[in-house]
Amino acid sequence: MKNPEFLSQYTTRTGRLAHVLKTSDAEIKGYFDESTQYWNEIQEKLTKHGAKERMGPERLQILYACIRSLKPNIMVETGVAGGSTSYMILSAMQKNGKGDLTSIDIDNPIWHDHQNYQVGWLVTEELRKNWNLVIEDSKKELPVLVKSLKQIDIFFHDSDHSYEHMMFEFNTVWPFLSSDKIILADDINLNSSFVKFSSQHKLHFEKFYGFGVAKNKLTE
Ligand SMILES: C[S@@+](CC[C@H](N)C(=O)[O-])C[C@H]1O[C@@H](n2cnc3c(N)ncnc32)[C@H](O)[C@@H]1O
Repeated sequence: MKNPEFLSQYTTRTGRLAHVLKTSDAEIKGYFDESTQYWNEIQEKLTKHGAKERMGPERLQILYACIRSLKPNIMVETGVAGGSTSYMILSAMQKNGKGDLTSIDIDNPIWHDHQNYQVGWLVTEELRKNWNLVIEDSKKELPVLVKSLKQIDIFFHDSDHSYEHMMFEFNTVWPFLSSDKIILADDINLNSSFVKFSSQHKLHFEKFYGFGVAKNKLTE
């Protein structure tokens, strides 16, 4: 690890995540350890198909620990590609014994990383029982989806990382988020939208090497 900022964010990650999620370091550490199994399963599947993971294990570990700790009933994700993040979320939900995930992806060919590509191809049949995959532009689908779900417990952004699109997604889901107001996002260092939105709404947020976790300060 040559990057000093990455190193400092990495060494403090357990405590910072425990703090923002209002739980103990031990609980978070346990979830990190648990996530290794799913990371290995994803790697195995990718290697078998000659594909490579874009996201390092560290970000998927943070995502997994959030879902295990917060135990959402209803969650929405934008940006699926092969489905590593969906796989992690659905595995955590399976361990929780509850939770449904709806994921939206536009099915952009530039994300096709091997011959028989289909959006979410990594996600197993078993995990799909709690998964609703929608192939559509989130600009069109997200407003319709959140309206039909009425309330969502966690929103995770990983689609178009432009400032305008990220702000659009955050603003669209905001009125439908339950009281904890949990927003997760990847690639938050590409623009200021995550930090700006979190600050505007007085959320407690933490950065984990480009992965953002934001939560209402007021709820227990
Ligand atoms: C960074 S990748 C997602 C990676 C995935 N979350 C993972 O690591 O497992 C971004 C994805 O967002 C999708 N995307 C881009 N713009 C979108 C939009 N406007 N609506 C829905 N999906 C979009 C792309 O097709 C691509 O699959």
